[in-house]
Amino acid sequence: MASPPPDVMDKLVSLCKRRGFIFQSSEIYGGTGSVWDYGPLGVELKKNIKDRWWNAMVRSRDDIEGLDAAILMHPRTWEASGHVAGFVDPLVDCKTCKGRFRADKLEDARCPQKPSKQPGQHDACQLTEARNFNLMFKTHMGALEESASIVYLRPETAQGIFVNFLNVQQSMRQKVPFGIAQIGKAFRNEITPGNFIFRTREFEQMEMQFFVEPGSDMEWFAQWKQLRMDWHLALGLSPERLQFHQHGAGELAHYARAAFDVTFDFGGTLGFQEIEGVHNRGDFDLSQHQQFSGKKLEYYDQLNNKRYVPYVIETSVGADRVTLAALVNAYREESVEGEDEGRVVLGLHPAIAPIKAAIFPLTKKDGQPEMAKHIMNDLRMAFPMDYDESGSIGKRYRRQDEVGTPFCITVDGQSTGDQTVTVRDRDTLAQDRVDASQLKGYLAAKLVG
Ligand code: GAP
Repeated sequence: MASPPPDVMDKLVSLCKRRGFIFQSSEIYGGTGSVWDYGPLGVELKKNIKDRWWNAMVRSRDDIEGLDAAILMHPRTWEASGHVAGFVDPLVDCKTCKGRFRADKLEDARCPQKPSKQPGQHDACQLTEARNFNLMFKTHMGALEESASIVYLRPETAQGIFVNFLNVQQSMRQKVPFGIAQIGKAFRNEITPGNFIFRTREFEQMEMQFFVEPGSDMEWFAQWKQLRMDWHLALGLSPERLQFHQHGAGELAHYARAAFDVTFDFGGTLGFQEIEGVHNRGDFDLSQHQQFSGKKLEYYDQLNNKRYVPYVIETSVGADRVTLAALVNAYREESVEGEDEGRVVLGLHPAIAPIKAAIFPLTKKDGQPEMAKHIMNDLRMAFPMDYDESGSIGKRYRRQDEVGTPFCITVDGQSTGDQTVTVRDRDTLAQDRVDASQLKGYLAAKLVG
């Protein structure tokens, strides 16, 4: 049996900070609990993942439209969706240490005063009765802080799609079956966030609701389940680290007729965890919004002269969680032949790597820096590039390996004579000699996919 993947989370947290991927939010003030900022390389990585999703879900299909709905929605939205009454976790407080824990996940928590025990197991623990805690962040709209002005930061992007169902369908003349997709921030006041960017209080979702005729829903559900798994595989996540998890009757959310999670093996104690949910939501959401708004949200099928409230197949994936999966999947430490020091490599799929190619002059003289900068300026509008002339060439390679740069281009003594450069492959370490004028096409061909 294959051994479980190693726990690389602590190493990744450190690498991400040191190399400009992810920083703790408001770090100089001691940090904000489970909120993270994406640095220069992190923002490129996450953007590449979001672009791939957008291209797969919106750009490459005629039957899905894009949307960017507002974060603040009418408060009735959240009554209709069931979030005001039901988006709760059971919470217990400890009167001794003032810690707060999820009553249904005590086994996953540690007593702050005796970390070898779970809350409630240490003699000094005084846990209260469990009470329901709503995970939505509340704020006020307008100048008056009164109950009538309460609004919520959306806990999912999906509701912005449901309330715009007819706007999109009619303005774009779409026919059922069709979908609406959006990428945006969501907020949850999680009681036990953690594991770096795995569970945070502010995060980004990439959600798509596919509206279908009742009766055809299970067929579409099966199709979307497979399409979404294929997307994760195409992102480079290892097949052996991906699995489906089917929700049993007791696990199903209040809106779901059927649900599968795509789970990824994060290694260590975290193991397999949900990165995406594929749900058959039936007509729950559109019917609820019809009832609460008093507005019809039916589709008129002209061809068959019938009206109905469509069923919805939802695919819902966290941009941050997939970013973490991509990082965990990519991290490796290996020895290098002929060298004492090994190397750390982020073997990211080239399409999502934050820097596509780095360029180095071998020495700081003989016109090499000038030629390297000229090449860099020529390529930078096509590919995110990095220029580095400091330290030995070996050190420069290591710096790029650690952030997942697929190609390193070196301008050497031969280059200024015959206008060729070497291109070194991050994974195979093979070096090709390439005509400098052919670099754009050479890199483009290697970076597709
Ligand atoms: N509209 C359905 C929905 O929101 P969900 O299972 O609650 O379903 C979907 O969330 C995805 O959003 C999850 O699979 C995960 O990737 C991401 N997600 C949810 N809560 C998160 C959190 N606190 N931090 C980071 N990502 C989160």
